[in-house]
Amino acid sequence: MTQEQQKRSAAQAALAYIEPRLSRKSIVGVGTGSTTNHFIDALATIRHKFDATVASSQASAARLQEHGIAVLDLNAAAEITVYVDGADEVNAARELIKGGGGALTREKIVAASAAEFVCVVDESKVVDVLGKCPLPVEVIPMARGLAARALRSLGGHPAWRENFLTDNGNIILDVHELMIEEPQAMEEAINNIVGVVCNGVFAAQAASVVIVAGASGIRQF
Ligand code: A5P
Repeated sequence: MTQEQQKRSAAQAALAYIEPRLSRKSIVGVGTGSTTNHFIDALATIRHKFDATVASSQASAARLQEHGIAVLDLNAAAEITVYVDGADEVNAARELIKGGGGALTREKIVAASAAEFVCVVDESKVVDVLGKCPLPVEVIPMARGLAARALRSLGGHPAWRENFLTDNGNIILDVHELMIEEPQAMEEAINNIVGVVCNGVFAAQAASVVIVAGASGIRQF
């Protein structure tokens, strides 16, 4: 099975997981990325079974609307039943690195607003220690140099994602070569850097469940 097929299969498993949890009043939180795109396409097949969605990016909102699915502003949504999103890395404690697509801040906000966070990944995303992939950090543009120096002092090698602005108008620093042995402590330390809006470690609030599609099928933990 190709990685793309695994992503599609994980997305279909996420749909099967959430469907019994939904009512006609439910709001579904929807993340960002290629795995989530498969989930959006699958979600369209049950659009009569929930009320509306909240999206973590303009790209996902547009894809949902193309399917005729209502997208609400987060502040208009009373309660989000479940949030479904992919990840760049997942460890056994369901802690994540996210933000490869640059939508990490809105993803963390919608995830924090949901009663349950279902993370959907293909097998390649599962790691022992977070940090093999660069850690995205969203930074206010004028603080780029200041934040980069502080990230270096934490042991990382930040690289400016050039020609990219987040949906919030900020820049991303991708921090290479950070072995994140203590994700919660790292998440907090980076959040404390002046000028940092948000970072891609999701540990203070990890996923509620991770659905993994691999060569031998679907598993969850
Ligand atoms: C988007 O900002 C990210 O957090 C994505 O959820 C993450 O990069 C996973 O993306 P794919 O599903 O495309 O691998």
